[in-house]
Amino acid sequence: VITQICIIGAGPAGLLLGHLLRAEGIDCVVLERHTPDYVLGRIRAGVLERVTVDLMERLGLDARLKAEGLVHDGFNLTDGERLIRIDIAGLTGQHVTVYGQTELTRDLMDARHGRGLEVVYEAADVALHDIESDAPFVTYLKDGVQHRVDARIIVGCDGFHGPSRKAIPVSVGKEYEREYPFGWLGILADVPPCNHELIYANHARGFALASQRSETRSRYYIDVPLTERVEDWPDERIWDELAIRLGPQAAAHITRGPSIEKSIAPLRSYVFAPMRHGSLLLCGDAAHIVPPTGAKGLNLAASDVHYAAEALTAFFRRGDNDAIPAYSDRALARVWKAERFSWSLTRLMHRFPEDGPFERAMQVAELDYIASSRAAQTSIAENYVGLPV
Ligand code: FAD
Ligand code: DHB
Repeated sequence: VITQICIIGAGPAGLLLGHLLRAEGIDCVVLERHTPDYVLGRIRAGVLERVTVDLMERLGLDARLKAEGLVHDGFNLTDGERLIRIDIAGLTGQHVTVYGQTELTRDLMDARHGRGLEVVYEAADVALHDIESDAPFVTYLKDGVQHRVDARIIVGCDGFHGPSRKAIPVSVGKEYEREYPFGWLGILADVPPCNHELIYANHARGFALASQRSETRSRYYIDVPLTERVEDWPDERIWDELAIRLGPQAAAHITRGPSIEKSIAPLRSYVFAPMRHGSLLLCGDAAHIVPPTGAKGLNLAASDVHYAAEALTAFFRRGDNDAIPAYSDRALARVWKAERFSWSLTRLMHRFPEDGPFERAMQVAELDYIASSRAAQTSIAENYVGLPV
């Protein structure tokens, strides 16, 4: 197969980019290791920034998002005693949209045939070749048969564990990394949310988050040591822990129900720079990871895709040779700010095992400051709602 762009990975980043390129009349092929059902089975992000909603709107694929997505004008921080409401709409004039990553991915997936976007699912052993040349190619195995895609540009949208980033020689890049000593245990259940807005809680027993997917579907998280296994957390144990950590007010409104999904995700901050080498660009989790506090992961993937689509369109449609080399710096400027926000909100809302009385006093002082300062609340709100693209 000969094409202009080969995209590796059909998560939100790969599918969004594929659709944007097709809308510009640029040829591309997307290679995905798993089946569509497997990709849709992974329950992940739930809060969309404007950049993500805008891309869906530009593609004309936002009908269901507009109909079913929940507009949230604020969210809450609590230490169990007081509830600090961050009035996103009042402080920034904007809002976030609660709509599951699964639903967004499904909308992009369902539109692929109608829009002429070719996605090869169950592509095994995907490997990148000659990325430092102007004629790179990708090989993969499908139904036991070896295939080859020749492209001008390869875009790695294959998540943190994919082969794209690993194809860049370590000597040309730099890795920045911070691991956290806990993971988030998530539970999804068909019960009404305990509150109409999200609540992030820092309790003596640890972090908790009350989120949602709709008026009848709730998503909750608690942080647990990395040594914990999902099997050790029957539903009732999670509901008990949530009731304690979210505090009595929220607990009074928690509706319990059987879990539809339960999983533990490790927390990590990670950036690989640069996000381009030769004819290979990286987008989304393939280049960076944020801890989930702040809901930035999916939205950063979308802003990368926005910059990448602009650069690729300038190159393929207008012959602009500077656009692709400029991609990495443009994307990283926004990535680093989201890394900072996610790291600082994680620091504020979790009890770290190594923390002593001083670190805890700093958390209390920061929450006091946020509770009493419009400037502090504005800073949190403008980061949460998403910095400009
Ligand atoms: P991905 O969604 O990871 O997609 C990458 C795709 O590439 C996948 O479909 C994968 O199958 C495919 N792929 C991988 N390897 C290969 C290969 N060798 N060949 C071909 N294809 C390949 N963010 C939040 O904001 N809130 C959350 O609650 C949240 N929870 C998360 C929970 C988990 C367990 C994880 C891993 C992430 C979570 N995130 C969350 C982050 C958010 O989901 C990601 O930032 C987002 O999925 C990034 O999209 P992406 O398209 O870059 O990568
Ligand atoms: C969700 C996940 C997040 O990481 C977050 O900050 C808010 C909401 C969610 O899955 O609903």
